[in-house]
Amino acid sequence: MRLSQILFSQGFGTRRLCAGLIYNGEVSINGELIEDADAEFETEGLEFVVSGKTWPFYEKALILLNKPAGYECSQKPKHHPSVMTLLPGPLRERNVQPVGRLDEDTTGLLLLTDDGSLIHKLTSPKHHVPKIYEAQCKHEVTQEQVARLLAGVELHEPDPAPGKPARKAEQARAEGAEAFDTAAGTHGLRLTLIEGKYHQVKRMVAAVGNRVEALHRPQFGALTLPADLKPGQWTWVSSPSLITP
Ligand code: URA
Repeated sequence: MRLSQILFSQGFGTRRLCAGLIYNGEVSINGELIEDADAEFETEGLEFVVSGKTWPFYEKALILLNKPAGYECSQKPKHHPSVMTLLPGPLRERNVQPVGRLDEDTTGLLLLTDDGSLIHKLTSPKHHVPKIYEAQCKHEVTQEQVARLLAGVELHEPDPAPGKPARKAEQARAEGAEAFDTAAGTHGLRLTLIEGKYHQVKRMVAAVGNRVEALHRPQFGALTLPADLKPGQWTWVSSPSLITP
């Protein structure tokens, strides 16, 4: 692929801007400055440097972000900054989107990609990709609550509009549920879900008479949050096969 096309495909701006970066001596490959925008390179496994920063070439971008609290997953956030502000310009330019959403106050593993069919595959319940959540609950988590979450609960509309007839309750079931100890006692609840309904964990926990006070996602499919990835930091996922091996 031509170098200007490589930069364009990786989110470095318009073709004219990409050519400008090359002519201005900002781009090197294998330690060699490349000033010819038409120079051809094999993209498989390619790494290139733009303005001193090294980038791997990926036909589709797949990113793992350690989402901090206080960020919205929406592109047009209402009350807090968007998670997109945590990503560098070229990834935003490539229009990566969150794979499902985490609430503003939820922390942990968030995937983002510009591969629409992958988003569908990872979020559709048909594909059975497990997501693990750890909730810190207000009250002790009882074995009865765990059993009800595994059997399935009715989710009620989170914010019914005043004066409007209530919508039909939705059903939701956890694939896995277990209580665990926290500093407050047995207030921890680990849930495995394959669906991603709106506020699903919070609504499921409310449906069994408890309340989520803090929510964290340590795992998505087979991917876990890397121990050295601090809140707000991101890393590349080299292949979707790491998520659903
Ligand atoms: N369920 C919730 O209630 N909130 C999240 O952020 C994710 C799952």
